[in-house]
Amino acid sequence: MARFDPIGSLKPHIRKLPPYEALEDLEDLAAAYGFEPEEILKLDGNENPYGPSPKALAALQSDYGADRYADAAQFRLRSAISGYVGVPAENIVAGAGSDELIDLIFRLWVSTDDTVVTSGPTFGMYAFDSGLNGSTLLDVPRLDDWSVDGEALLAAARDAKAVFLASPNNPTGNLLQPELLDALLETGALVVLDEAYIEFAGADSATVRSASEPALIVLRTFSKWGGIAGMRVGYATGVAESVDVMLRAKQPYNISAASQAAALASLEDLEVLNERARMLVTERDRLADAMRRSEYLEPFPSDGNFLLVRVRDGRSGHEASEALRQHGIFVRTYSAPRLADCFRISMGTPEQNERIVAAIAEIGASDG
Ligand SMILES: Cc1ncc(COP(=O)(O)O)c(C=O)c1O
Repeated sequence: MARFDPIGSLKPHIRKLPPYEALEDLEDLAAAYGFEPEEILKLDGNENPYGPSPKALAALQSDYGADRYADAAQFRLRSAISGYVGVPAENIVAGAGSDELIDLIFRLWVSTDDTVVTSGPTFGMYAFDSGLNGSTLLDVPRLDDWSVDGEALLAAARDAKAVFLASPNNPTGNLLQPELLDALLETGALVVLDEAYIEFAGADSATVRSASEPALIVLRTFSKWGGIAGMRVGYATGVAESVDVMLRAKQPYNISAASQAAALASLEDLEVLNERARMLVTERDRLADAMRRSEYLEPFPSDGNFLLVRVRDGRSGHEASEALRQHGIFVRTYSAPRLADCFRISMGTPEQNERIVAAIAEIGASDG
């Protein structure tokens, strides 16, 4: 009798799935470059250098109920998020990071014969989950200033099931043009607006709008502003009907007891977290100025906790990144041709950024 063939029996679209390029491990990097892990500035994941808030850290050291399954209905967490974002709990569902919610949206609304639209360069999970779920991804490339090509996007959206856009966008840092959101909501497609970095932006969130707009789902996260990326807590907001199916379809215990405790405590530490976000915005603008003065680095304007930086002295983004690695500074580079001369750097603390400014000066001088 023929035996089961695990590869040959895969769904056809899974066989073609490209690997997701996950972040490199800090300990591995330290060992490879001859640093102690604590000497490394790992600025490739847009995490928060201040880490969890004091109350979140205390909650993680408390008896948060590791022996029991966490609340599947996420009742306390959704109520607390409701107080933070200003929409009722029935309009909120939490996920193991917004990553989980992106996949959930695909599984609920996007079939294998559907097209989804995005506008690159952008966050890789939209393409990854499109591949995982077997749909067709249509990329409408951003214009040279990284703004979304409105007309082309609207035309594509009219034939699509869903549109995924990040605002601020990762890695380009810019916000979506507000008038484009209005027009997109009229196309008949589901618009998923990913606001992972909205706490760093000089713009209002669309969360409140999503609670009464059936065509809109907004994604937000505790990973960036909240400093608990490793706990994996994100959330989606939308009309109650959409949120209800998401609550029914998610894995029942998708947010662990520890993660729920950390997120709840973070929401009791808003003053600290908001002050840290302000400091990161100040650092972002200060680092951008220092880069501009270097004359070989050109940061793009950013509304996130990171900068996309163009290298202007002929070196590739990868070569600049290698030079920074020799100083223990790890940034994100890209294989896409449009970003070949760029790297992305997440904001550090003022002290960390001093180290970056010194490294930038040295790297420029040694080659100049
Ligand atoms: C635009 C965007 N959305 C979502 C995420 C992932 O967030 P989470 O940690 O909540 O899964 C990221 C992380 O880099 C991101 O850049």
